[in-house]
Amino acid sequence: MKIKGFLKDVTGASRVTKARLNAFQTASAQAEKTDPIANVVKEWHPGKTELRVTEIREASKTAKTVRFERVDGKKMPYFRAGTFVVLDFTIGDSVISRPYSISSAPYEGRLGNGYLEITVRRSRGDGFIADHINDNVKPGDVFPALIGCGQFYYEPLRDAKHVVALAGGVGITPFASMAKEVANGTLDMDLTILYGSVFSDDIVMKKELDAIKSNRVHIVHVLSGDEPDWDGERGFLTAELIKKYAAEDTSYFICGPQAMYTFLREELKKLDIPQRRIRFEVFGQAKDITTFAGYPTEMKDKTFQLTVRRGIREDVIPAKATESIVVALERAGIRIETACRSGECGFCRTKVIRGSVYICPENDGRRAADKDFGYVHACAAYPTSDLTIKIPIE
Ligand code: FES
Repeated sequence: MKIKGFLKDVTGASRVTKARLNAFQTASAQAEKTDPIANVVKEWHPGKTELRVTEIREASKTAKTVRFERVDGKKMPYFRAGTFVVLDFTIGDSVISRPYSISSAPYEGRLGNGYLEITVRRSRGDGFIADHINDNVKPGDVFPALIGCGQFYYEPLRDAKHVVALAGGVGITPFASMAKEVANGTLDMDLTILYGSVFSDDIVMKKELDAIKSNRVHIVHVLSGDEPDWDGERGFLTAELIKKYAAEDTSYFICGPQAMYTFLREELKKLDIPQRRIRFEVFGQAKDITTFAGYPTEMKDKTFQLTVRRGIREDVIPAKATESIVVALERAGIRIETACRSGECGFCRTKVIRGSVYICPENDGRRAADKDFGYVHACAAYPTSDLTIKIPIE
């Protein structure tokens, strides 16, 4: 029986091969005008998509939620809850890209008038695009956008069914997207969000979050400020507090300010959580690179010469030792593709021809071959000498 089945397979395969050969030989030399598979791929992953602002609303006393719809009127491309969108901003003569976690749910993007939202908090003096969004962006503005970037999403093959999300400040946004998707029944996980804020009026998206609490979505607000009337959890996201809300098998997802990451690494160590159960969202460019392990602090006040080759063109620009190569390029109005700005995605991959750089160890997402052949991710590389680099022509 087995042999018969095997022969059937072989003769069947040869019939298919003949049919394919025949199809190749008789096919037109012209490309198919409508390829249904290509059409589906294009619809779900269209690359850069133009988004128009349709609504802006308060998300806390210092944060705003911006809603976008597609300029071409179509539904949003596919994205997973927890991922981010990269928006291009034209400011003066420069185009600057910034990643923002998507705070709406994927299912909201697939509705009739599918939309996508980001929630952005005003900076504390170190983020002029965040302030630009809060102060200047208005309904009708259009931005090119890359939707659904990053790795910070729930994956049932890898993560435990119960997830404890540890959020700080505006780091709540990827969890808001996940929570809405779970509440809608389109993401199968149990989510407990421990959300740290200083005072209750700092809580971003509070009303929206409280409206989607359910038996699968629990939201626990934790205040570190002195607020006498607060009857919820107080203090920081300590090991003790985390343990109180964890199940036996839990994955831990973390998103918030850089200082919170250092603190939580230590707290999770106390609980003996295996590394495979801990996931950190990338946090953008280092706020103060001089505080990272191995940074040559004797360089910190220096400015180097950065020679930038694009095809036959060569520009020489200044580059501060404490700013990444991406920032030096943007200051000089030289465009380089970026997405995560955290060393993870490789969009800003750049060849170093001459000179040396410091690479932030926590943000070194390069492949081994790239390290061997002198490539760096320019958003996570800081000059430590005069440099010559080669970037792709726009
Ligand atoms: S922008 Fe992602 S690695 Fe630089």
